[in-house]
Amino acid sequence: MTTIPKPIHVPVLLQEVLENLPVPSGGRVLDLTLGLGGHAQAILAICDADTRYLGVDRDPFARASAKARLGQDARLSIIADTYENVWENPAFQAWCHLQAPEGLDAILMDLGVSSLHLKDPSRGFSFMEEGPLDMRMDPEHGLTALQWIADQDETTLADAIYKYGEERSSRPIARAILKAFHEGRLHTTLDLAAAIYTVLPREFARRKGQIDPATRSFQGIRIAVNGELEGLEKSLERAVGLLKPGGRLGVISFHSLEDRIVKHTLRRLAGVYDGPGRTAPELLPQIIRLIHPGGLKATDSEIAQNPPSRSARLRIGQKQADTSSRIS
Ligand SMILES: C[S@@+](CC[C@H](N)C(=O)[O-])C[C@H]1O[C@@H](n2cnc3c(N)ncnc32)[C@H](O)[C@@H]1O
Repeated sequence: MTTIPKPIHVPVLLQEVLENLPVPSGGRVLDLTLGLGGHAQAILAICDADTRYLGVDRDPFARASAKARLGQDARLSIIADTYENVWENPAFQAWCHLQAPEGLDAILMDLGVSSLHLKDPSRGFSFMEEGPLDMRMDPEHGLTALQWIADQDETTLADAIYKYGEERSSRPIARAILKAFHEGRLHTTLDLAAAIYTVLPREFARRKGQIDPATRSFQGIRIAVNGELEGLEKSLERAVGLLKPGGRLGVISFHSLEDRIVKHTLRRLAGVYDGPGRTAPELLPQIIRLIHPGGLKATDSEIAQNPPSRSARLRIGQKQADTSSRIS
């Protein structure tokens, strides 16, 4: 009997992506977070031979996995970059110029980390298994989590844990982490978790059925180390700028901080004013139209099969034909 290898990363909201990012015959698709190519594989499977698909990812292991999975497919090109910087990348500009001179039909952003990051202890994202304190999505660039912590004082570390992890005990946690660091006890992910548990005991959370108390602090440090929220708004604007009229941008986010940026940026690009006061100081151009304005969430059956999909939300914007139109 042949055994089918289990995919390492199950693409979330796949059906919703396929239904809401339709690709016409000979369509042009940009996937700014290619990952292990799960969405790419499913999208390419229903597209014709004239389709061209460009995948971008900052993580060399993700790109290698996607290449191993889809490298035979001549419709796919892969570029190593971040979605913040790719716009100025000559290889990206050449692809757009040659393959998509009239713009793109579909752009996908599936934000955050993949299970490749979370399940491999050597990447340093997990508080369940021992690994180096790294947490970089691109291990070839930037500071590791340990180097980043070494650069922080109590205030800046607490601020990151509070802002990006939404952790209310950020200040005592930052103090405990820096104490462990200065006493030479902070080397691995489990050391970091142990420092956090001195403030928020793990057993107490377990007894109350709460999430592991290290979750929020790990998220905060990871987002800071990877600069995950910086440049997201600009990247969404650049992506919309490359869509053809009628083309669609789909963005999947996994936590409220990301989703807030996605929601407000797409609403602003749709001409909806979310600022203070009731009326916009000036009328905003309607560059996109929101499809499913509240976003789409995973069905109960997807959540049962793939529990991480519980926190995913897909928001979609469609480029208007006349982008100079204004709200009446
Ligand atoms: C949730 S995974 C994508 C999974 C993919 N859709 C699939 O089905 O396999 C997110 C991917 O985005 C990448 N990533 C995160 N931030 C990025 C950024 N700023 N620029 C480019 N890639 C990024 C990560 O390395 C990761 O591989």
